[in-house]
Amino acid sequence: TKIDWDAEMAEKQGYKHFMLKEIYEQPESLKRLLEANLKDGSINLRQNGLNKDWLADYDKIHIVACGTAYHSGALAKYLLEDKLRIPVEVEVASEYRYRKPIVDSSTLMIVVSQSGETADTLAALRLAKKEGADVLALTNSRDSSIARESDMIIYLKAGPEIAVASTKAYTNMVAAFYLLLIDGMKQRSEIKQQTIKKYTSDLIKLPEMIRKLIDNSKAQIKLLAEKYALKDNIFFIGRNTDYTLALEGALKLKEISYIHAEAYPAGELKHGTLALIEKGIPVIALASRSDVFAKLFSNLEEVKARGAETLLITEAKQNFKEESIDHLIELPLLNQDFAGLLAIIPLQLLAYYTALECGEDIDQPRNLAKSVTVE
Ligand code: G6P
Repeated sequence: TKIDWDAEMAEKQGYKHFMLKEIYEQPESLKRLLEANLKDGSINLRQNGLNKDWLADYDKIHIVACGTAYHSGALAKYLLEDKLRIPVEVEVASEYRYRKPIVDSSTLMIVVSQSGETADTLAALRLAKKEGADVLALTNSRDSSIARESDMIIYLKAGPEIAVASTKAYTNMVAAFYLLLIDGMKQRSEIKQQTIKKYTSDLIKLPEMIRKLIDNSKAQIKLLAEKYALKDNIFFIGRNTDYTLALEGALKLKEISYIHAEAYPAGELKHGTLALIEKGIPVIALASRSDVFAKLFSNLEEVKARGAETLLITEAKQNFKEESIDHLIELPLLNQDFAGLLAIIPLQLLAYYTALECGEDIDQPRNLAKSVTVE
């Protein structure tokens, strides 16, 4: 009806879709989360129920979630294991709940859920709790079942997210893991104060860097989207945390454009998927990390040699042979452990503008729901 239409337009505040509005809200919503957990310039998670030395209380961490939330956990595993030296398992909730995971009172169970109501995630939480694990929830909903049943909660503070394809909630999930990472680093005596200070100040830079990146990359991405909208298959590759961004980028693209998109760990391509690479197939290489750049780039050269149309998303300072690159998106320089939240921005915009070219129903893709409260 007319009234509904007007109300919806007002809510979109001039944006054509909620997804685009939510992409643009990221600097602001990220800032909100960071400010809520900073005290006198230092990360402080005590208000969330985490005690000062929580790391010592656990032998291992299990991260369980679904969809985009799972991808935030997949990224966190790399960082938490690297810096905190604690074993981290990450799994989709629908698998976790139907096997017999080794979980007990020495486990910190972290569930991640925008809605706080995803049925499989809630069931996984209950399973872990029954076995004696402490549960930390990263959720965007204060009144949710997951918030109610958890022992500790980091509220994501992303604000209402309407588009089915998650953007600002994902960003705040990853950022919540960054907060947890820094809080854990403070408990590791081998990590210097100086390093912790630097990590904290790098984290605080993110909202403004994201704002600039959206503005600076939009025009180029619109042009790329015109090309991608004509393709049937698009591949995403990355290593380490960049592999998890590839997973999220592929999910975003496929769920709203309906173009087949697959993410692979770059080094795994040669074990099968390379057979699918032929002339004109787009391969998007994520390279926000400098420590694996050379390895990733050699995988990019392999696909280029087989005719792929390549897009490299990497930090501005990298040196590489330009012949292997058809398109390049440069990211501003930042600590490689946090640069993932820069690299995800072009992928969100690419998914949005490609779906727009395809003429699909961006905010409500076919067959999908925002919150999956039944199995
Ligand atoms: C659905 C949504 C996804 C979301 C997933 C998990 O599939 O369409 O965008 O990532 O559920 O939702 P949650 O609310 O638990 O984060």
